Amino acid sequence: MPDDDDTAGTGDRAALGGSRRRGTFAVGDLVQLTDPRGKMHTITLTQGASYHTHRGSLPHDDILGRPEGIVVTSSNGTSFLALRPILDDFVLSMPRGAQVIYPKDAARIVGLANLGAGARVAEAGVGSGALTCSLLRSVGDAGAVYSYERRPEFAEVATGNVVKWFGHRPVNWTLTLGDMAHDLIQRDLDAVVLDMLAPWECLESVASALAPGGVLVCYVATTTQMSRLVETMRVQGGWTEPRAEESLLRTWHLEGLAVRPDHRMNGHTAFLITSRRLAPGTVLPPRKRRPAPGAYGEDYTGPGSIRDVPEE
Ligand SMILES: C[S@@+](CC[C@H](N)C(=O)[O-])C[C@H]1O[C@@H](n2cnc3c(N)ncnc32)[C@H](O)[C@@H]1O
Repeated sequence: MPDDDDTAGTGDRAALGGSRRRGTFAVGDLVQLTDPRGKMHTITLTQGASYHTHRGSLPHDDILGRPEGIVVTSSNGTSFLALRPILDDFVLSMPRGAQVIYPKDAARIVGLANLGAGARVAEAGVGSGALTCSLLRSVGDAGAVYSYERRPEFAEVATGNVVKWFGHRPVNWTLTLGDMAHDLIQRDLDAVVLDMLAPWECLESVASALAPGGVLVCYVATTTQMSRLVETMRVQGGWTEPRAEESLLRTWHLEGLAVRPDHRMNGHTAFLITSRRLAPGTVLPPRKRRPAPGAYGEDYTGPGSIRDVPEE
């Protein structure tokens, strides 16, 4: 049963992120203010403070102690809807160092990696910490997230975002400043997620870190990255046949008889490549289906091509 008195965010709800608190607004809560144009601003409630915008100022005290889902008015008469943010909205409005994984892809990654309470997952790079929030939320208190990031300035942005979302630094989150290709020390992981320019450089270390049956999910923006990754996995062996997918999200305009897809959409975010780790020594039976004619012909120069074999 929901604990409506848990306004301070203590107890189980705190582990799920600030937005999971219910009840009246309290000091320290994240509040998402939506202006009449639908633009969202996220603030942290502080007694006596004011939120200043070109649409006037808004005292936090006008929100404190009141229920979620109210409309508050700034000094110049602009109305703002006040709600606790959901993670999708928070991610799109939070400060960014690197480009974030969009909510539609983060949700798919959680599914493809088979994450749930108690799972242990590693990710690189942490970037702005968007995916980190989804991973932490899906594995819960009983699980663990090990994040790796090469650049300190991004690690700092990510830490700020994760702490802001959860209201504290989750104890089951380990952030390592280092290179996933060399510094990954965990073993028997349930899943690894790679979001970086050259994921194939991390395959050796990821192979040692995943438990047999564990899932690797890679997020890459271009077809050339996707091809190089998949062919490197095939040459390396020890992986199930990689699967690739992308998802397109189209929002809709809803007004009277004008119910139609929105004119604008984000046409491309990235491709998701998934594979599972085989038991040590296992070799996949040869594929029944022959490669398409020319797939590995003389024009093919990628991993596993004739030109790839070092000369004696
Ligand atoms: C696109 S960002 C990741 C965004 C992140 N997934 C998010 O949702 O906010 C890619 C990050 O990978 C980091 N990176 C690239 N190669 C890496 C490696 N081998 N080990 C650790 N971090 C790496 C980069 O510094 C960069 O911050």
